[in-house]
Amino acid sequence: MPRAGVEGEQPADGDIAWILAGRAWIRDRLEPVEIAIDNRGWIHSVGKVRTGAPHHDVGDAVILPAATDLHVHFREPGGLDAAENIATGSVAAALGGVTLAGDMPNNLPPIADPEALADKARRVGGRSAVDLLLYASASLDHPLERLASRAGGFKIYLSPTTGIDAVPNVAGTAELLQRLSDLDLPVSVHAEDPAAFAHGLDAQNPADWNRRRPPEAELRAIDRLLSPPPRLRLHVAHVTTQESVRRLHLAGVSFEATPHHLLLSDRSGPDARFKVNPPLRPEEERRELWAAFVRGEIPCLASDHAPHSADAKGLPFDRAPSGVPGVETMLPLLLARVRARELGLGTLLAAACDRPARWLGQPLGRIAPGHRANLVVVDFRNHRPLSSRTLRTACGWTPFEGWEAVFPREHYRDGRRIVEDGEYVGTPGGGVVRPEYVPVAKRSPR
Ligand code: DOR
Ligand code: ZN
Repeated sequence: MPRAGVEGEQPADGDIAWILAGRAWIRDRLEPVEIAIDNRGWIHSVGKVRTGAPHHDVGDAVILPAATDLHVHFREPGGLDAAENIATGSVAAALGGVTLAGDMPNNLPPIADPEALADKARRVGGRSAVDLLLYASASLDHPLERLASRAGGFKIYLSPTTGIDAVPNVAGTAELLQRLSDLDLPVSVHAEDPAAFAHGLDAQNPADWNRRRPPEAELRAIDRLLSPPPRLRLHVAHVTTQESVRRLHLAGVSFEATPHHLLLSDRSGPDARFKVNPPLRPEEERRELWAAFVRGEIPCLASDHAPHSADAKGLPFDRAPSGVPGVETMLPLLLARVRARELGLGTLLAAACDRPARWLGQPLGRIAPGHRANLVVVDFRNHRPLSSRTLRTACGWTPFEGWEAVFPREHYRDGRRIVEDGEYVGTPGGGVVRPEYVPVAKRSPR
């Protein structure tokens, strides 16, 4: 398992601009560090530095690599009903300690051709608080090679969901994976098999929704992904069951779990605010998923931030859209579990910071030379219950109302402060990134 935190690499070039001092997770414990940040906003070196450069000492607070969220829906373009956009969603990300977000292509219109991708990239410029990686929608009838020259990754939907009506059949999936393997970009898959859905079942609450789109549908879709073409950088989105974890782990395929599947069950709430694809599972299943996460068997944490408006989620269950917001609360909720000693900090950093960044080929997620100085400062004494009134996501609600959270006090993007005392103080200087180098482990970031 790659180690999160600090690594003993060579100092990078560039003059030291300033030094961030505090405690960081090194060799499986918190140790005092001084992080020298160069004038390009990269980590120059880690350790005691003799220089006249200004120091910022955070005292007992903890310095962590900022997180990479592999899976958000910022809904831009998103039509008139969109409850989020790149400007609002990226500020929510920054406040939640997420420094890079992978934005999904189920937009309105979908990101299925190079023109749509170029339009989305133009919307990021000068408007995003954090960096974004843009996925293109992968289907055999999309111009995959031309999309690959601009996209940061591909997303395959194997089942209908928000904004997705048509999905490939079994033979089409194999051919699609084969074609994508030559394009050398990360490929994320929404793995549910609609052939295993209980289409006739009238769903009136989250427990019904779990029966309508059962774990069996997820397993059947995953089984088609267990022997991918060798070069393919494959990843399965929002895995919900322990059996999915076991199969993907054995096959060496990357995957993620979301905070809502790890922390909420199909009995957490009665209404459509708890409707999501794939569905929330029964408590026993959730507990097993959480235990696998705590054991470090789930390589990545991702939010699947799906900001539907409160009005849309207030519709009768069968008419309401699926999805829950999460980019702002993912790290704070999990840091609260670390604070409660239910989860190891090293396990969280590996899943939220290191492995997702590596899967996207980004020099992020570690406190080490050769990495960008995208860091957060966390004071574990500073915890509070979540309230939708204080969240910045424009959708204005959370399924985690009242849950304990530890928000970052500070967030640095390229060595510049964008969050101070828990308030956003940045400029919209985030950009579009694409995979920069082939990660050490091509297929499995285990
Ligand atoms: O619940 C979901 N909502 N699942 C998805 O796959 C898409 C997402 C959305 O975009 O709303
Ligand atoms: Zn999604």
